[in-house]
Amino acid sequence: MRKLIVAGNWKMNTSVAEGVELAKKVSAYAEQKNLPAGKQIVIAPPFTHLAPVAQVINADKVILAAQDCAATKNGAYTGEVSASMLKGLGVKAVILGHSERRQYFKENSEILLKKIKLALEEGLDVIFCVGETKDQREAGQSLYFNVVKAQLVDTVFTLTKEEFSKIIIAYEPVWAIGTGLTASPEQAQEIHEFIRKEVAANFGDEVAQNTTILYGGSCKASNAAEIFAKKDVDGGLIGGAALKADDFGKIIDAR
Ligand code: PGA
Repeated sequence: MRKLIVAGNWKMNTSVAEGVELAKKVSAYAEQKNLPAGKQIVIAPPFTHLAPVAQVINADKVILAAQDCAATKNGAYTGEVSASMLKGLGVKAVILGHSERRQYFKENSEILLKKIKLALEEGLDVIFCVGETKDQREAGQSLYFNVVKAQLVDTVFTLTKEEFSKIIIAYEPVWAIGTGLTASPEQAQEIHEFIRKEVAANFGDEVAQNTTILYGGSCKASNAAEIFAKKDVDGGLIGGAALKADDFGKIIDAR
């Protein structure tokens, strides 16, 4: 079902104690808001914070997500955290394909598809990030459309319809992440509409209408409302502005 989601990606920020406090505030906010059905708040703290955060949030009001999971099920993979370990902690969703993972950790579509499948096998929802770099954007529409399309074709478009129903797409232009540069509402709408059309071409109209597509990249309290107002934008994946409960609350209220 198409939802309205405001998701906070904390990245590698906050101490455990700070993260627990932030999670408590977000959870209290969500409880007090009595959110309508179909509107969801997601937080994605670092791995180390997941167990203590799970203890302090109201899981009916706030969905706990991880920022990544391993591309293998279990075994001798030092430092990795598997989808089933996350599931065991009360994690309900995982962010995959974030541009920082693609850029700094060289994650490509092949690796990402393995991660997606393992996450889905554990019953986790997947927030799958796509987006073009600054150079690709500057090369013109047909290029950045093709970049985003290829990121989908090589991964989530290979899934079955049923599997794809667990995928939330996050369009995150790399040039807007953490830079203070935001896509204009029109730029966001243009590519969200394109993504929805591609989903329709691959899985049919009904699936496309039920797909949740988030915007991410310097989304904050001051610009969230106008971006979320666009018809193909179903909320946001928020980095920096998710680290302050008040700012995150304002973004939750933006639509
Ligand atoms: P930002 O990050 O809001 O800090 O730009 C967004 C993200 O990377 O998900």
